[in-house]
Amino acid sequence: MSTVSVSPVSVSVGAPQRKKMTTLAFRQKKERGEIISMLTAYDYPTALAEDQAGVDSILVGDSLGMVVLGYANTLPVTMDEMLHHSRAVSRGAQYALLIGDMPFMSYQVSVEEAVRNAGRFLQQGGMDAVKLEGGRERADAVRAIVGAGIPVMGHLGLTPQSVNQLGGFRPQGKTASAAKRLLEDALILEETGAFSLVLESVPARLAEFISQKLSIPTIGIGAGAGCDGQVLVTHDLLGLFDRFTPKFVKKYADFHGEMKRAFADYLDDVQTRQFPGAEHSVEMKEEEWEAFVKSVHR
Ligand code: KIV
Repeated sequence: MSTVSVSPVSVSVGAPQRKKMTTLAFRQKKERGEIISMLTAYDYPTALAEDQAGVDSILVGDSLGMVVLGYANTLPVTMDEMLHHSRAVSRGAQYALLIGDMPFMSYQVSVEEAVRNAGRFLQQGGMDAVKLEGGRERADAVRAIVGAGIPVMGHLGLTPQSVNQLGGFRPQGKTASAAKRLLEDALILEETGAFSLVLESVPARLAEFISQKLSIPTIGIGAGAGCDGQVLVTHDLLGLFDRFTPKFVKKYADFHGEMKRAFADYLDDVQTRQFPGAEHSVEMKEEEWEAFVKSVHR
């Protein structure tokens, strides 16, 4: 006999079941011309909300360093910090494809270290895949990580871990030669086995051209509408990061302002003794109170 719960949490019979997103499904979305959605998360509640909203993929980005840990850039972020936040995200998300961002110096020193650290994201961080920055210079590392059975997402264009080499957080691929090099790097990453590629802060028409040349999906950030998917740093989208907002960000909320308002209201309530009210307090029975008073006044 089949039983259908009538409680408020019952699931309607025949409702389509959401499946866990995989790297294969990523590629199939591109083939079907369906857009891929991706957001960053660094903690359990954000991952839970993004997953419940239906986001295809969650990136535990090393942007963690700037938007959560308060560093000036992403360079100080360590493997231990990334794994700590990856675990929290993995506890919140059930369906999204989870991608751990390999921090600066976790994959540049040797191919062996790259494979070992990539493996830690899956074994200790609960991630499904890793992302790393760079093109041809990372081909050996990408090949080896993929060879170990770990899906790799590439990252080209503005690669924040190279901020000192790039001379700041500035758009890339704006000259004919830089654009050609970027296309070559994208093709190399595809050839080495990357399952997808982030294109950050590059001209829209170049990103569209590269997306059409590749069979793996491109995920754009500041790269126009011609990519196969889009990603934003969640703290930018929510207006939670107050230091600066890149031109390519669309703000969907002002959480920083909202947090400040809530904190000021709380402060006011505490100072004027309006909080806590009776409804926030624990009561005890009158006879217990009287017995207590009697016992201490003996
Ligand atoms: O670290 C990050 O959040 C990223 C995204 C900007 C793609 O790499």
